[in-house]
Amino acid sequence: MRENGKTNYIGGNWTHAIDGETFDSVNPARTAEVIGTFARSKAPDVEAAVAAARASYPAWRRMPSPARGAIISRAAAILEQRKEEIARQMTAEMGKVLVEARGDVQEAIDMGHYIAAFGRMPNGSLVPSERADVFCAAKRVPIGVVGLITPWNFPIAIPSWKMFPALLAGNTVVFKPAEDTPGLAATFVEVLIEAGAPEGVVNLVTGFGEEAGAALVEHPSVPVISFTGSTEVGRKIAARCGTLMKRVSCELGGKNAIVVLDDADVELAVKGALWSAFGTSGQRCTAASRLIVQRGIYRRFRDLLVDRTKALRLGDGIDPNTDVGPVINRSQLDRIHQYIEIGRAEGATIATGGSIADHEPLRAGCYFTPTVFEDMRPEMRIAQEEIFGPVTGIVKASDAEEAVRIANGTGYGLSLSVYTRDVPTAFRAMEDLEAGIVYVNLPTSGAEIQLPFGGIKNTGNGHREAGWMAMDYCTEWKSIYLNYSNSAELVRAQIDTQES
Ligand code: UN1
Repeated sequence: MRENGKTNYIGGNWTHAIDGETFDSVNPARTAEVIGTFARSKAPDVEAAVAAARASYPAWRRMPSPARGAIISRAAAILEQRKEEIARQMTAEMGKVLVEARGDVQEAIDMGHYIAAFGRMPNGSLVPSERADVFCAAKRVPIGVVGLITPWNFPIAIPSWKMFPALLAGNTVVFKPAEDTPGLAATFVEVLIEAGAPEGVVNLVTGFGEEAGAALVEHPSVPVISFTGSTEVGRKIAARCGTLMKRVSCELGGKNAIVVLDDADVELAVKGALWSAFGTSGQRCTAASRLIVQRGIYRRFRDLLVDRTKALRLGDGIDPNTDVGPVINRSQLDRIHQYIEIGRAEGATIATGGSIADHEPLRAGCYFTPTVFEDMRPEMRIAQEEIFGPVTGIVKASDAEEAVRIANGTGYGLSLSVYTRDVPTAFRAMEDLEAGIVYVNLPTSGAEIQLPFGGIKNTGNGHREAGWMAMDYCTEWKSIYLNYSNSAELVRAQIDTQES
């Protein structure tokens, strides 16, 4: 049984950290409220988890993939049964409002059903040979022990995007979740255990990046790392994995934008902007922190947006009247606040918000007032750097071409959106917007699991999660040649044979 501090799951047992150290996870709505106490893992714990994952790999790899799919399918069904309870746990542990927490669990349920079906899908190709009586095929094969390092903002959905494909493909896993959401990670692992994941196939080490995460990246028996988090940390992980010749998939920061053109449905665009800017308190990698608005509708869009932003109710996400919940922790709260000062110093003005909520009862938690910057110019730091909080800014553009140029003008490339009713403009924007995900008349958040998810530039390193390529990051291709001729003659490929 899982109990306080005993939150590592290694080789089928819940255990303490080997040195007995622990850390607390708290409710960001009231930081004095401790959600639970967790194992603070270090290299020896990671060592034990990797050993368990290695030991279970041969049998798991040999299990028919429909049987692995059946376990994932059961996990999806259990998540469905426990959806409400897990959503409430999520709101308490990381603060997102309950409707969004339900959505996070739903995303994992969808992913589970989708990936489970791959257990019965083709996993390779038959290919003709240039030689007579030679059979050629290529098949997808697992790699071994996969290390997963996940963030706190989608504490069930993101682990599911990484875990289900890794398991379906026949890999075993060591999972190191963010230190802000270890409780949800433990719940996710409980679901997999109940679904029938054999001992050692899924292992959990709770703790901190510099301790447990780094040990996982360094471990010689972990050939694959999948990381979602900041570009700063991703860069370091990718560099280490490069040296160690490991496969590494990184999903990193974003500086997403919504372009609103003069012919747009302004009402719809404002709704989209509010959702993408302030949903999950702006703590999505798909959050829209830039709103690029054409001059003709600027005033209308700006006034509507500011009015609606002022009307958003900040509070505990468990309260059904709350629109925007707390941010994850105090250091993130301070970081967001610093960006307000940076924006002011750069000459942007605050149309609404811009402060830490310091009144009762919100001062007990990590609340930042939903903020709209005006007079934001594309080159400002607040228009270039990921803030990861309820802060957005409006930039003026004179036409569609300039708007698209501004949208493309950052170091990131995850999600970009355009609101227009003009078909040629929409198609031109779909072509010209430089991002892994492009939306027309929809906000920058809300990707569905059956499409590839990921970005270009500093948002990632060329991998995609979800969609039909979900298994790419954790599989290799094996090409197979089989000679079934009865002849004793060696037939070589590419070698001209003498006709005589
Ligand atoms: C993230 O913020 O890291 O498209 C993922 C979306 C969600 C996933 C966000 N489906 O906003």
